[in-house]
Amino acid sequence: MYALARLLFITALSMARSNTSEPSSEENKRIVGGSDVPENEHIPYQVSMQYKTDEGLRHFCGGSIITPNRILTAAHCCDGLNTTRMSVLAGVRNLDDRHGVRSKVLSCTIHPDYKILVTSDIAVLSIDPPLKYSKFRIAPISVEGKEFVGDNVPVTLTGWGRRLPISIPLLDILNYPNSLQRMSYHTISNKQCRESGMEKVTDTEICARGIFRGSCSGDSGGPLVTRTSKGVHQVGIVSYGLSICGLSITPDVYTRVSTFSDWIQSEITK
Ligand SMILES: *[C@@H]1O[C@H](CO)[C@@H](O)[C@H](O)[C@H]1NC(C)=O
Ligand SMILES: *[C@@H]1O[C@H](CO)[C@@H](O)[C@H](O)[C@H]1NC(C)=O
Repeated sequence: MYALARLLFITALSMARSNTSEPSSEENKRIVGGSDVPENEHIPYQVSMQYKTDEGLRHFCGGSIITPNRILTAAHCCDGLNTTRMSVLAGVRNLDDRHGVRSKVLSCTIHPDYKILVTSDIAVLSIDPPLKYSKFRIAPISVEGKEFVGDNVPVTLTGWGRRLPISIPLLDILNYPNSLQRMSYHTISNKQCRESGMEKVTDTEICARGIFRGSCSGDSGGPLVTRTSKGVHQVGIVSYGLSICGLSITPDVYTRVSTFSDWIQSEITK
């Protein structure tokens, strides 16, 4: 079991390290085991990061709105990519929704300590024009506070996710949904996470696990949230997992947002 986990981990590692000038769909993570966000509901803080290719605009990562002109995402969603080809689509449940609002990405600041698959997989995008908040479709998510999130906390992930753990040619139209997916599971302690095969997990990360569910290719950078007495709060950013997703072999690893609250504040105010 550990040998298998390590093998898959290395597969994920080499895919994440592939240094292409365009985002590879395999290197980004998407949700398995979720369901459509209902028609009448919006996840107002969720955005789609899109990349301009010869074939048009392509969703490649998720992100979350933290102020009208700042988006929180993962460092590996920017690393090595051309920022001038990036835009952010806000206010949509379906990726083909014409009521979406698109902003250019002016810059992407990657955390200075970022090391791929090791630590600080966090970045802040500066966008233009700034977003106009609306009651249901576009609103920020709370990211303040340094409170440590322990194990067994119910958390929810959203993203335009690949729904099956593997890529199936011909069926990928069904596999990559147009509508936003949502999935809930629980955090585990970092000790449990290391013991479950993710040996390199550090205090700058938080893990979550559920049966036959998890993040998978395509939702990197997206928000993992929990509900508190003060409302919805972001605790994680999709960072990495195994290439065979959602099979409960190992937990999913997220960047622990509370560790970076000072850095996020400095990026918001600069
Ligand atoms: C990876 O991409 C970066 C930025 O485009 C480039 O500077 C670097 O040389 C590339 N590394 C490899 C190993 O190709
Ligand atoms: C980035 O993309 C823009 C627009 O497509 C292009 O003009 C520019 O040369 C690219 N820059 C690099 C470093 O590839």
